[in-house]
Amino acid sequence: MRRKIIAGNWKMNMTPSEAKELVATLKDLVNNPEVDVVYCVPAIDIVPVVEAVKGTNVEVGAENMYIEEKGAYTGEIAPAMIVDAGAKYVIIGHSERREYFNETDEFLNKKVLKAFEHGLTPILCCGESLEQREAGVTLDWIRLQIKSDLQNVTAEQAASMVIAYEPIWAIGTGRTATTEQAEEVCKAIRETIAEIYDAATAESIRIQYGGSMNAKNCDELLAQPNIDGGLIGGASLKPDFGRIVNYQK
Ligand code: 13P
Repeated sequence: MRRKIIAGNWKMNMTPSEAKELVATLKDLVNNPEVDVVYCVPAIDIVPVVEAVKGTNVEVGAENMYIEEKGAYTGEIAPAMIVDAGAKYVIIGHSERREYFNETDEFLNKKVLKAFEHGLTPILCCGESLEQREAGVTLDWIRLQIKSDLQNVTAEQAASMVIAYEPIWAIGTGRTATTEQAEEVCKAIRETIAEIYDAATAESIRIQYGGSMNAKNCDELLAQPNIDGGLIGGASLKPDFGRIVNYQK
């Protein structure tokens, strides 16, 4: 059985002081020994948040990283810095990075490989635009993203990673994908993993849904056979996040 993984993506929110306060507010709410809980936080918050979650079940992730080891890349964060700061996960290929920072699948594939080199678990995001959904090309598009982003990733590595399906039209809009839509795409992602690798790898990889997941709709989404967790934006900054971690089975 795959363990559920509920991750918050704080995006560009929370100063270091606010981050410590939020961790304290959520502390007693995110206790669920059956679920992996991750806070993916802005780079500047990683150190204080790692410190603040010590002794709890919460792990920390970065929201982004660069593909080089070190050097003259002003403003970028190296994977070794993330690891040394105590984070275990890294979000790769969020649609906001693809859209606003022109991150291509070729570049994201390098990031995925680099994350594994450093022992970080990638949370690789994929998702279609509204135009693509309306044109009926969602599944083809998602398969293409997954296949491109996982070039040269081994089966063992793929089995240990997380993929987040986030339809772009559902992010921050309050417009959640229906349970059927979310399950259909997560199932297709698992089938794609089986096609690239094998059935065992597909059984093992964890697939999250993200896009306006909240305290109200989480139970139904998380009940789906191919949805192994959530990547939560807005609701991860509120006590609601605790309700999602303690979803009702
Ligand atoms: P919202 O939960 O705010 O829609 O954001 C989803 C998301 O982008 C998580 O990565």
